[in-house]
Amino acid sequence: MSNYPIPEKLIYQGVESFGTPLWLYDRGTIEERIRELQVFDAVRYAQKANSNLSILSLMKKMGVVVDAVSAGEIYRALKAGYRGGATKKTPEIVYTADIFDADALALVKEHQIAVNIGSPDMIPQLAEAGIKTELTLRVNPGFGHGHSRKTNTGGDLSKHGVWFEQIKDCMKLAQANGMWISGLHMHIGSGADFEHLSKVTEAMREAARHLGSHIRMISTGGGFPIPYRESEEGNRIDINAYYKLWDDTRKQIAQSVGHSVSLEVEPGRYLVAESGLLVSKIRAIKTMGENKFYIVDAGFTDLVRPAFYGSYHKISILPQGSSVLGEDSDVIVAGPLCESGDVFTQEEGGYVVSRKLPEAKVNDLLVLHDTGAYGAAMSSNYNSRRLAAEVLYSKGELHLIRKRQTFEQMTENDRIVGL
Ligand code: LLP
Repeated sequence: MSNYPIPEKLIYQGVESFGTPLWLYDRGTIEERIRELQVFDAVRYAQKANSNLSILSLMKKMGVVVDAVSAGEIYRALKAGYRGGATKKTPEIVYTADIFDADALALVKEHQIAVNIGSPDMIPQLAEAGIKTELTLRVNPGFGHGHSRKTNTGGDLSKHGVWFEQIKDCMKLAQANGMWISGLHMHIGSGADFEHLSKVTEAMREAARHLGSHIRMISTGGGFPIPYRESEEGNRIDINAYYKLWDDTRKQIAQSVGHSVSLEVEPGRYLVAESGLLVSKIRAIKTMGENKFYIVDAGFTDLVRPAFYGSYHKISILPQGSSVLGEDSDVIVAGPLCESGDVFTQEEGGYVVSRKLPEAKVNDLLVLHDTGAYGAAMSSNYNSRRLAAEVLYSKGELHLIRKRQTFEQMTENDRIVGL
């Protein structure tokens, strides 16, 4: 595996300048993915995948609008230059969630942020807050699919969205509160396959019937998979075929209501995953019985996907200094945390597995690939580890886009009280 989106020389340079663990993102890869999706009327970035302000600002520059699932994400979008305006044909920011907390409601009101309703209770809560606006509805079509049970967002075991049989009730509720529903959104899960994603078009046509001529917009949600495994390379989702399915659906809906209907897509992973690398340093090599371990200085506090979902990330090694890589052998790759689940080579259910990796030395760099989505965004301070630095590779140069957290920042809100 020597397929880096960023030249190897610059990976070394990044480590030298900013240390490890280090997130590196390639701007070119993000731009390429955006352009692929710009066949849709609007590309709405699900910023939960990576909400660094420079990434958001790049999205904005490229004409991508944004989704926000919390007050914090609205705040980030505003900071990156996006503006509110719920009545715009394509609002720059849409709040999509299953509840309002006090902070979110306040920001929605102050900046007139468009709202995609995920629970019927949100409608009267808007009215109580003195907000009367055009709404869209996130519909749970009764089925879902994802790369893991934890990323399936449809069906009756999912908390997400408004159950498809309650669309009419929500329309009435909106009307009773002086509002109306002008769009429908369906996101059935993250990392879904083409077959499941395609089934949504039928559910959308069905749901659109309820809205009749009120409908102005449909959103496909996100969920596109990316090829995480070596065996999936060259096996990308067919964006054009997917667009065609949805464009046909949109045309049918538009024809039945007699006016145009815009078509949005809402990806997170697809836009950023492949741009990112998590670079760590091997700090110990040891054997446990027959098993060989590389223990690196990045853990699930940095990249939680393997521990949380059993997710697979390609791993490669870059030798440091005079080190020369040897033959491949079976290795378990683990992090520094005081927790046994801190293993990057594991399957769903927590089963530790090994990976064929070259013979390496302490201080060689170990790179986890395709970590631009749900990497830094899901990091934590567990074990009092600092959030790692983030760097964007753009036009041949590295730019620090988030400094490594300091120990002071990590503890600044703690208080020692006199006991
Ligand atoms: N829209 C909505 C309403 C969503 O809930 C999500 C993801 C997206 C769009 C974007 O999905 P994407 O295109 O990125 O698949 N942490 C998990 C993924 C959780 C996604 C949650 N919602 C992971 O690391 O795989």
